[in-house]
Amino acid sequence: MIDASAAPLPAKRPVLLFACFGVNQELWLRWLRHHGPDIEIRVWPQIGLASEIDYVLAWEVPDGFWAQFGALKAIFSLGAGVERLLLDKDIPVGVEIVRMEDPSLEPAMAEYVLLHVLHHHRDMGRYAADQRQRLWRPAASPLASERTVGILGLGRLGRACAELLVTLGFDVRGWSRTANPMSGVTAFVGPGELDDFLSRCEVLVCTLALTPQTRGILDLALFRRLPKGALLINVGRGGHLNEPDLTTALDEGCLAGAVLDVLSAEPPPQDHPFWSDPRIAITPHISAPTRPQTAAQTVIAKIDRIERSAPVSGVVNRSQGY
Ligand SMILES: NC(=O)c1ccc[n+]([C@@H]2O[C@H](COP(=O)([O-])OP(=O)(O)OC[C@H]3O[C@@H](n4cnc5c(N)ncnc54)[C@H](OP(=O)(O)O)[C@@H]3O)[C@@H](O)[C@H]2O)c1
Repeated sequence: MIDASAAPLPAKRPVLLFACFGVNQELWLRWLRHHGPDIEIRVWPQIGLASEIDYVLAWEVPDGFWAQFGALKAIFSLGAGVERLLLDKDIPVGVEIVRMEDPSLEPAMAEYVLLHVLHHHRDMGRYAADQRQRLWRPAASPLASERTVGILGLGRLGRACAELLVTLGFDVRGWSRTANPMSGVTAFVGPGELDDFLSRCEVLVCTLALTPQTRGILDLALFRRLPKGALLINVGRGGHLNEPDLTTALDEGCLAGAVLDVLSAEPPPQDHPFWSDPRIAITPHISAPTRPQTAAQTVIAKIDRIERSAPVSGVVNRSQGY
């Protein structure tokens, strides 16, 4: 059926430049071509005439990269987080930056967070340690409804985590910059409600965007406002965490443990103390990987909408930083 409201596609084939490093390029190109047979896809550094390029799909581009493009219609970020792109002073002003909204991210993140919440909730770390010492020490566990999990950031990923935890009966609270009402979740907004939010979080999950306001937010002052013995799960960005403060908080006992999927340097240097700290579990940024199969489809669908002058979701607000 023809959608009469949609504007016809212009005659020129849109040109998308793939400029992503450190990813499986072959797989990405296969899926971009599969979903966008009518789009011309060029691959950095074989860009041809830069003035012909309409869109760039970017990840970790080299210095000075953006200077050559004159007529971009949009820049797509290969990742959900756009903090690195925004730090690039050369990125053209006035061109919309569109973040990745791969539908695979939410269920994967919710699954990862649930795994670690349950592990902590049922004290599995202690039982594993007991087994190694041939100890048989049963203890009562609280019900999920007696366990408070706080989520910093109720965006796409935070909401997916909250939804799943609510389904299992956890007492879930969330904190965000603007009001984000959600059924079953106690909502807290802005710096003025942060203390109140933290005061009951036995598990604290960070799914915040990384901006100048949230960089380093996970610091000792914040950890001291949690109930003693809380668990930190950071799946946002390494820049949210003050790493030396985490060790101090664990030593002081305000935190019992931490699960870190993201770190300030990835991978961390071999002599980084977190590798060998039994109170800290680290994983190599795998909680919610972008999947080319589904992500390529969303990029192509957004190009199609822009070509038809229709609005797209995921446009970054540069002044807010996410
Ligand atoms: N580990 C991984 O594999 C992985 C994968 C994908 C993404 N990520 C990271 O996960 C994080 C969340 O991604 P997302 O897609 O859910 O992002 P999102 O939809 O943009 O949500 C970001 C959340 O942060 C909140 N926020 C931003 N600044 C704030 C501030 N100053 N004070 C309070 N709240 C603030 C926003 O509040 P409002 O709702 O009020 O706007 C929003 O709820 C990002 O850091 C992203 O880079 C990690």
